[in-house]
Amino acid sequence: MLVCHLAAFVAASRCFCRYPGQYNIRHYCKKTPSRLWVSEALSSSELRENIIIQGWVRSVRAQKANLFLHVTDGSCLQPLQIVASSELNDPSLTFGSAVEVTGVLKRSPHPRQPVELEAHHINVVGKCNPVEFPFKIKDRHSLEYIRQYPHLRCRTNAFGSLLRIRSEAATAIHSYFKKNGFVNIHTPIITSNDCEGAGELFQVEPSGQKPKEDENFFSVPAFLTVSGQLHLEVMSGAFSRVYTFGPTFRAENSQSRRHLAEFYMVEAEVSFTQSLEDLTEVMEDMFKSATEHVLAECSEDVDLFHKYVTPGHRGTLDAMMTTSFPIITYSEAIEILSRSSQKFVFPTDWGCDLQTEHEKYLVNHCGNIPVFVTDYPYDLKPFYARDNQDRPHHTAAAVDLLVPGVGELCGGSLREERLDLLKNRLEQVGLEDAYSWYLDLRQFGSVPHGGFGMGFERFLQCILGVDNIKDVIPFPRFSNSCSL
Ligand code: 4AD
Repeated sequence: MLVCHLAAFVAASRCFCRYPGQYNIRHYCKKTPSRLWVSEALSSSELRENIIIQGWVRSVRAQKANLFLHVTDGSCLQPLQIVASSELNDPSLTFGSAVEVTGVLKRSPHPRQPVELEAHHINVVGKCNPVEFPFKIKDRHSLEYIRQYPHLRCRTNAFGSLLRIRSEAATAIHSYFKKNGFVNIHTPIITSNDCEGAGELFQVEPSGQKPKEDENFFSVPAFLTVSGQLHLEVMSGAFSRVYTFGPTFRAENSQSRRHLAEFYMVEAEVSFTQSLEDLTEVMEDMFKSATEHVLAECSEDVDLFHKYVTPGHRGTLDAMMTTSFPIITYSEAIEILSRSSQKFVFPTDWGCDLQTEHEKYLVNHCGNIPVFVTDYPYDLKPFYARDNQDRPHHTAAAVDLLVPGVGELCGGSLREERLDLLKNRLEQVGLEDAYSWYLDLRQFGSVPHGGFGMGFERFLQCILGVDNIKDVIPFPRFSNSCSL
């Protein structure tokens, strides 16, 4: 603190002094070291004195004369090499300990490490007991193993990379929408509607008090959102392109490797649509543009996954990026499945919902690249999906994007904008009163519109080749599990 005050005094005195002699005070003042991120240090091309690095020890190698440490601070995958005289060695300098190192940044003699920090001082800020720390310095731990330690796994290389990729992917998605004229809408997390009509809702009530009958906090039953779509539809009466990107909740009693009770969904709504292709274009473009951004901005982190965690996946991703995604109808999909010699567990008759095994088969059939399936049976889709008014097979203008390794990545539809048809459908399901506001939207300047939702975790699974959705979210929530 004293050093800071003196430094400030020196800076101030420089502004006011007239005579060079007055600078003498500098000789008595210790200059505050400049803090650098590890990523900044690694990309620095010049020698820099009086640098401070703060981070965590990734490896320790003690030689006779010198001590070598690798230190990371989360800014990048690569650690910074610290070289110190062995006099600075300390038994508490172990894998996982937190340190502050001051010294001189210089060129390293090793071609793979462009710079290193010659340490003058090492301060162990936080000790780490290497015996009890669940990660070992030389071991490469599997994703399943580190998943057991949700409070510590961010300290591993793999999960650190995942979190940087996740952060950059979110930025990529926002910048895709910004570039393409979409307005970001913060749709509510607490809502009184069940957009998907599937009844997979978490109800919201104040804790500690049992609500009396007919006495809800919000006067109506309220739930955590399963989709921001209906609120985006409100906005699409005034904005031609809107999107939202936030947490989404589903009380699905599933432990599957692609379902969570809390996940992030990217949803877009486009007004004045002509056909489903207006939507498939946005989905494909968003997928490719966000993936390209991640590959460019996080190449080291993505390489770690593609080399060590999911070897072989890079080829699959490259194929996804270089081909146009084919579009088939649900009826064509059923034909493909029925002609197949593979025995499926679930039926493949027209009208059946497509199951994971079917989605997998269709993706492989199309060459292991993403495929759009359109025009699903009308009865399978929620009330908002636009009626294609076709026969004998009655379909709705809905589309899913199926991708390798994951299955359904996006789900969307044109929305029923015709008041009479929408009213009939809501009457059939007894929701006419609850959705009177939704019917209103069709009376005041309604336009053909449509949109889609993409599961953000499934997107990460798809680009990285990660099998289990619990390994691409910081704190997974699923049935029977809400640790931390
Ligand atoms: O297909 P879904 O249910 O579509 C909707 O919610 C629409 N209202 C979206 C819209 O049109 N605005 O969900 C969209 C995507 C799925 O394709 C899937 O990727 C993801 O959300 N998703 C889940 N991801 C993880 N865990 C779950 N339980 C998920 N449920 C859906």
